[in-house]
Amino acid sequence: MRSQDYDRLFLSPPHLGRHELNYLHKAIEDNWVAPAGPNLDGFERDICEFTGAQHCVALTSGTAAIHLGLRLLGVGTGDEVLCPSFTFVATANPILYLGATPVFIDSEAETWNICPQRLREALEALRRQNRRPKALILVHLYGMPAQLREVLAVAAEFEVPVLEDAAEALGSRYDGQPLGTFGEVGVFSFNGNKILTTSGGGALVTNNPEWAQKIRFWATQAKDTAPHYQHSELGYNYRLSNLLAGIGRGQMELLEDRVKKRREIFAWYQKHLVDIPGLSFGPTEPAGGRSNRWLTTLLLAPEETSVTPEQLRLHLETHNIESRPLWKPLHRQPLFNATPTYGGEVCEKLFNRGLCLPSGSAMTDADLRRVAEVIKAVF
Ligand SMILES: Cc1ncc(COP(=O)(O)O)c(C=O)c1O
Repeated sequence: MRSQDYDRLFLSPPHLGRHELNYLHKAIEDNWVAPAGPNLDGFERDICEFTGAQHCVALTSGTAAIHLGLRLLGVGTGDEVLCPSFTFVATANPILYLGATPVFIDSEAETWNICPQRLREALEALRRQNRRPKALILVHLYGMPAQLREVLAVAAEFEVPVLEDAAEALGSRYDGQPLGTFGEVGVFSFNGNKILTTSGGGALVTNNPEWAQKIRFWATQAKDTAPHYQHSELGYNYRLSNLLAGIGRGQMELLEDRVKKRREIFAWYQKHLVDIPGLSFGPTEPAGGRSNRWLTTLLLAPEETSVTPEQLRLHLETHNIESRPLWKPLHRQPLFNATPTYGGEVCEKLFNRGLCLPSGSAMTDADLRRVAEVIKAVF
């Protein structure tokens, strides 16, 4: 780390407490450091208790969880999978791992998540060609619940199973129910920048016991029951280690605090920067939705201000403050050139106008004032 990194304000750095150490110590003392052991079982139990899901499998990443979740839903070579364009590439990469093709759907302006009307349009167009997508990936970006009622109704009408990518949305709710539990399969990420972290890690939740068993099997190289190494199916090395699950256990104890803090950070920015013409905060919670406000995100309206998000980002950078553009829509990524897309204007506009601000739950009032002062100075 460079010396100037010590006063750098990062976007969303890890925020550990003291409890993690107890679980780590115990794992080392008891020699449970491989991808099996009491922390792993406990971490999965903690996630089930928090979310209300009946089964959880802890994995090496959220991406691994999406990969196995899609395979579980039967996605394979030549299939189509519906996916929002406005998301991190990790949502869609596993579609390609499985030899399938994404079909991208635009966002709606309130939650910034998948637009139910565009989704219907896509499904109707595909139905006219006698094509039924194998799955829909539903993402809750920046922790914001999607328009769940509407989206789930469309998915049910067209009989498309839902994989819920709640990588950014642990601790968010819809009608009081934790996100990640609305689809056939739900996915969380414990990557270093998430609201809770295991340094790197992920989890898959489901209410189907056979599916959970299958995921465990695939995630440990698909070893058949035999004294020797015998394999009838393709497997992966995707299981989380008992050491990292120990960090996860300690982190889970802090979840409600972390959500509270991130929501306070969002409210603080909003209150202190509300008077700047052309600057607004988003996305907005849908009726019944409560976001964990993983990242605070702002929008700049070019009709009202000549300051661009990139100018603001560079200015923050000169003060050693990290900020980031919103996710670049996947239909604009060279990797997904020529991928079928329904709409696209909404998320392109968001990408052109938005910026993510430092939102780590360890931020102090002085840190927040430092960011706000730099932003005010630009305007
Ligand atoms: C929306 C979204 N989906 C999936 C992932 C993948 O999670 P991981 O980094 O744990 O593989 C991430 C985060 O990185 C994400 O933000």
